[in-house]
Amino acid sequence: MRTLLDRLARYLWPLAVANLVANIGIVVTGAAVRLTGSGLGCPTWPRCTDASYVAHGELGMHGAIEFGNRLLTFVLSAVAVLCFLAALGARHRRATRLSLVIGLGIPLQAVIGGITVLTDLNPWIVAGHFLLSMAIIMVCVALVDELRSPERGPAPPLPRALAWATLLAGWVVLYLGTVVTGAGPHAGDTESPRNGLDPAAVSQVHAVSVYVLVALTVALLVVARRVGLGWLSRVTGLVLLIELLQGVLGWVQYALDLPVGLVALHMLGAALLAAGLARIALAVLPHRADREASPGGEPQPHAATRLT
Ligand code: HEM
Repeated sequence: MRTLLDRLARYLWPLAVANLVANIGIVVTGAAVRLTGSGLGCPTWPRCTDASYVAHGELGMHGAIEFGNRLLTFVLSAVAVLCFLAALGARHRRATRLSLVIGLGIPLQAVIGGITVLTDLNPWIVAGHFLLSMAIIMVCVALVDELRSPERGPAPPLPRALAWATLLAGWVVLYLGTVVTGAGPHAGDTESPRNGLDPAAVSQVHAVSVYVLVALTVALLVVARRVGLGWLSRVTGLVLLIELLQGVLGWVQYALDLPVGLVALHMLGAALLAAGLARIALAVLPHRADREASPGGEPQPHAATRLT
């Protein structure tokens, strides 16, 4: 067992990256389920139909799409378990804890996905399903950051406060986005309930929250540059770019009455923003490489560079 773990330890970094990519990827495939109206392609859960665990011909395209997305849970679980074992093998305590949280998040998402089906795609449950994915992506980023990012001390109080405020504002934007979706036309199935709010009004509130987020991010960028926090400046600059692109995309999809391709891109943008926000929050915390860790968790050559 130990030699297997030791061997896996070498793959800790690629497995951590695979965890992140897979959890962002399933947001896009989840978008495909909702935007093709396949949310009830498998009408029940955990079976696909009362008589079968798998989709069959009668369920058509919608069944195949929804069932395909269910199958991805197994891919995500396999990556998460391998990553956890690799972290154990590398004797990297913090990486082990983080990969365990990711690994537990995936079955939890499978259950919440099941509840969305059993509640006929209740928009509030669908929102919770999406937001939990954002939280898992953030933990994936924490793992990546743990393994490879510059060693740094704690940031001074002002950039730290701004970074946390940006994270909080980002969560408000993400939450309000799901409320807009719940009011909008892409329920995932023609029969599914909507939250009853006015789509135009909630879209405006969502957009205003984006302006607050952008303002906070600009303020953080200015302060980080003034104080000379190179790593935080770089991460914040990138996040600002994602916000601006995502904001333009949001307005364009709104003006064009929500074409499915743009809405899917908007969901991908939201997942990338969640990753970026986590990176910002982590960049103001102290970070030291785990000196006890072996192969995969080894302090990386560039990890010793102090960039803050
Ligand atoms: C940083 C910028 C933005 C972020 C992070 C963001 C995030 C989100 C999220 C997370 C969702 C819900 C996705 C889902 O539940 O499937 C959403 C939906 C939506 N957003 Fe944004 N958004 C941003 C900017 C904007 C802007 C400026 C507008 C312009 C009004 C906008 C319009 C919409 C609309 C109309 C929807 C509903 C789409 C649907 O019905 O499926 N977004 N957004």
